[in-house]
Amino acid sequence: MKGVILAGGKGTRLSPLTKATNKILLPVYDRPMVYYPIETIVRAGVRNIIIVSAREHAGNFINLLGSGKEFGAKIEYTVQDEPRGVAHALSVAQDFVDGDDVLLNLGDNIVLDDISKEAKKFTGGAMVFLKKVKNLSAFGVPVFRGKDIVAIEEKPKRPKSPYAVTGLYIYDNTVFDKIRKLRPSARGEVEITDVNNLYIKEGTLRYSFLKKEWSDAGTFESLFETSEMMRKIINRDKRQ
Ligand code: G1P
Repeated sequence: MKGVILAGGKGTRLSPLTKATNKILLPVYDRPMVYYPIETIVRAGVRNIIIVSAREHAGNFINLLGSGKEFGAKIEYTVQDEPRGVAHALSVAQDFVDGDDVLLNLGDNIVLDDISKEAKKFTGGAMVFLKKVKNLSAFGVPVFRGKDIVAIEEKPKRPKSPYAVTGLYIYDNTVFDKIRKLRPSARGEVEITDVNNLYIKEGTLRYSFLKKEWSDAGTFESLFETSEMMRKIINRDKRQ
């Protein structure tokens, strides 16, 4: 399995913080945001990681992370020339993934769970990770029939379950064929939710719940709250 961290996009929701730098280089309390997806992927037992960033920021990622040695990882870098959505950014990593499965972590998603069991048990299809949240209409939200997810709705006005689909996904290598079949959504992006819905149609999407704190740090409010959350957790861990 290979790890992919997405740092494309313009981070418009965080402008002007993101005018001169990439969203996931911004601080979350005492460290750059990108440290979290790296740690999540390494904790899952995956050591070969690629960072897909916008071309103007690729050099900053290399300066910060180098070979990845200090994280116990081997980090490579590539660029998405234009921001065309999460699924499109993932397709840029196809050659790096080279036929393997993919553990995808959206760069602004901070996941503290250990998902190494899910990664080890993965035998194809797709796996999404769910978390109960309040502001559901900011996320992909699953629709359940019994215990099965029968659809995922992107940013629904009337969410049909209390769970967000977090920005952490495991895919088999058919994900790249699926992305090629998709057209951009109304917001001009090739949506990861559309990819997940193709897996649902195929009957191969599974899910798991995150137990620890989760945050999408992509807005001013959530970035601030995430820093507060991590400050508490880091200080609590220090005391222990
Ligand atoms: C993306 C996905 C959405 C998911 C979210 C998690 O949204 O499209 O389905 O719930 O990440 O953070 P975006 O942050 O691109 O609006």
